[in-house]
Amino acid sequence: MTALIWCFVGYLAGSCPVGFLATKFVAKKDIRTFGSGNIGATNVGRLMGKKWAVATALFDMLKGGAAVLAASLFTDGSDALLALVGVCAVLGHNFPVWLGFKGGKGVATTFGVIAFYDFFMPLPALLGGAVWYVVMKTTRYVSVASIAGLFASAVFTACFGMPRPYTLASFALALLSAWRHRANIARLREGTEAKVKS
Ligand code: G3P
Repeated sequence: MTALIWCFVGYLAGSCPVGFLATKFVAKKDIRTFGSGNIGATNVGRLMGKKWAVATALFDMLKGGAAVLAASLFTDGSDALLALVGVCAVLGHNFPVWLGFKGGKGVATTFGVIAFYDFFMPLPALLGGAVWYVVMKTTRYVSVASIAGLFASAVFTACFGMPRPYTLASFALALLSAWRHRANIARLREGTEAKVKS
């Protein structure tokens, strides 16, 4: 029962559609009808500029991290439960009930969740973030950077010997995000994926 409640808390935290709310109340536009249609930081940046993209990414990370942190503080903190709460937070971001279950691709929220796994062990997420940055700078495709960065984070959770539930959850979340990027992957293959300015 406790696990179910915490999974629900994780889902609710993740389902807060930060990018959607920022664009709705500040730019007075529905981000879902702009650019890629995604509610994530990259698309918010296309509409409102870099500062809003960074703010959206930070809040999307925080909501995932906060869910895992809260569960680690207020439960027995078992690895399996915390791993699951993090997965539920990302599911909340990707499939928010408030937006008819049509949400984002879970990149920032997954980085936030992985950073707070294992009672706040941020190195795998930080190194994955570094991979994200290098790939983004070299290819100028955020989608490619996001997929590479998340898989790198998952690999780093294994390299740093984090408990298995966190590693499994990290790989599952990287796979989920890759699947959520399938329209980007199709555009990459067609050569029509938008690049970010360097
Ligand atoms: O975080 C999502 C990013 O990887 C791609 O965003 O808007 O280009 O689909 P977008």
